Amino acid sequence: MGEAAIYTPKNILITGAAGFIASHVANRLIRNYPHYKIVVLDKLDYCSSLKNLMPSKSSQNFKFVKGDIGSADLVNYLLITEGIDTIMHFAAQTHVDNSFGNSFEFTKNNIYGTHVLLEACKVTGTVRRFIHVSTDEVYGETEADAIVGNHEASQLLPTNPYSATKAGAEMLVMAYGRSYGLPVITTRGNNVYGPNQFPEKLIPKFILLAMQGKPLPIHGDGSNVRSYLYCEDVAEAFEVVLHKGDVGHVYNIGTKKERTVLNVARDICNLFNLDCEKSIQFVDNRPFNDQRYFLDDAKLKQIGWQERTTWEEGLRKTLQWYTSHPDWWGDVSGALVPHPRMLSISGVEKLADLQKGTQTKSEVEPNNKPKENLFLNGNGHVVGNGKLHHQGNGVPKQSLKFLIYGRTGWIGGLLGQICQKQGIPYEYGSGRLENRVQLEKDIASTKPTHVFNAAGVTGRPNVDWCESHKVETIRANVVGTLTLADVCKKSNLLLINFATGCIFEYDKTHQLGSGIGFKEEDTPNFTGSYYSKTKAMVSIWMILHSLPFAVCT
Ligand SMILES: NC(=O)c1ccc[n+]([C@@H]2O[C@H](COP(=O)([O-])OP(=O)(O)OC[C@H]3O[C@@H](n4cnc5c(N)ncnc54)[C@H](O)[C@@H]3O)[C@@H](O)[C@H]2O)c1
Repeated sequence: MGEAAIYTPKNILITGAAGFIASHVANRLIRNYPHYKIVVLDKLDYCSSLKNLMPSKSSQNFKFVKGDIGSADLVNYLLITEGIDTIMHFAAQTHVDNSFGNSFEFTKNNIYGTHVLLEACKVTGTVRRFIHVSTDEVYGETEADAIVGNHEASQLLPTNPYSATKAGAEMLVMAYGRSYGLPVITTRGNNVYGPNQFPEKLIPKFILLAMQGKPLPIHGDGSNVRSYLYCEDVAEAFEVVLHKGDVGHVYNIGTKKERTVLNVARDICNLFNLDCEKSIQFVDNRPFNDQRYFLDDAKLKQIGWQERTTWEEGLRKTLQWYTSHPDWWGDVSGALVPHPRMLSISGVEKLADLQKGTQTKSEVEPNNKPKENLFLNGNGHVVGNGKLHHQGNGVPKQSLKFLIYGRTGWIGGLLGQICQKQGIPYEYGSGRLENRVQLEKDIASTKPTHVFNAAGVTGRPNVDWCESHKVETIRANVVGTLTLADVCKKSNLLLINFATGCIFEYDKTHQLGSGIGFKEEDTPNFTGSYYSKTKAMVSIWMILHSLPFAVCT
């Protein structure tokens, strides 16, 4: 390939770069090409972290925008105002296990999201490269005895909802290339591993479990074969495709080195000096688990890429990173179960299944310990702190009863709807929060297992209203909430209080764009409005008096 074929971008939009692979690509491009402007667009989903972009934080050529690729207005605005000439599109729902639960999220993010980006390119007409990041899974499974891997012209035969949406997105990319002459390039990659990966994926999950001395759960018999590439090698592959990839072409990013899932688990056990026989546990397989994805990797090699990191070296580096950053992802116990379904939090199908008693064996931990309910913490990460009561056979008892305050509010109304859909018995509280006697009556008659407080004064039409209605505001938000908390404490009940993030503002230690956020236990530092003042008071008082609560912000 001659010099003339080298493409030089100016302003690159990278989607999904608070996630795993794209964070390595963004950090690499920002470091190696200070004259390229890199704008990152990410909605900061459960599997992402701004910390992944810390190496680029103070670079002049880096800008982070929190937003959804599904927002046409935002995408059009960014393309125009940032003068974007290149898009590297990584953002997607990526976890196959989730796609067996809530596949609509995959269609929405992976297909519709890609469509929005493509349409924005068509409308603005400024994009000279659209690099679409797809996966080896679009080819479907490879025969166990095949000696030739899938090449870029092979048929797409996806087998699971995730890969189907990735294949669907590819079709749109291809069509925009043909119909509108959009300069598109598609990549299809093998599995990637390394630092920054959310621990729902196999390798970081096994490492974190091994660090905690817990069993490593293997889907099925562990004979499924996968090919793994180290993240820095993959970032380099994208660097090569960006500069040397031919428009209209597809590039596999692959390796011929394959290993079974069982061998991956064994290698990790060995690095931790664990007894493989004792540490590896076989659990139910996924609804469908492709046996093998084998790629022909010749085309990318022809334009100058090669794999550099051996498995042994990559695994050692990865292990070192996770052991030296054990808290990178916070509490991810929900992701470490054999079949995590993080996205199903927003859906209803899993709990509904449980209520119907149709829970599959795989949703119970291998030792038949009931799986925890999953909740989102303030960072949007999943934590397992709920209780779901099971009988010995894994079928849940109908033992939940929710008492909800705030029927007429948006969140309160929504809570009722969710309970209804999931078949959780619930009632709305009838008393005003500041009326202690009525609260006690509500609890005595409802006999709840959990109390939710979504009641409070937020101001109508907006928070300014609170400035001229201070008595009403403090009565409901402070006196009411603390009374309810105290009544719950006396009744030994868990109170989930819907608080607000409007009690914090950026300061020296939490600067805009720094990726350093406020923690749940931080002292509120924003009391600029009366509304925030009342919310901050409650937050402080609840901590001071050790009232029982969980805060959902
Ligand atoms: N991880 C692998 O082994 C692998 C292999 C081949 C291909 N891929 C592909 O590479 C890409 C990146 O994968 P990853 O493993 O780094 O993913 P990831 O799950 O770690 O990160 C995905 C990122 O996309 C963001 N995102 C999701 N939906 C969004 C939306 N609607 N708007 C804005 N941001 C959104 C998330 O917040 C997250 O930061 C994906 O397209 C995936 O299909 C991954």
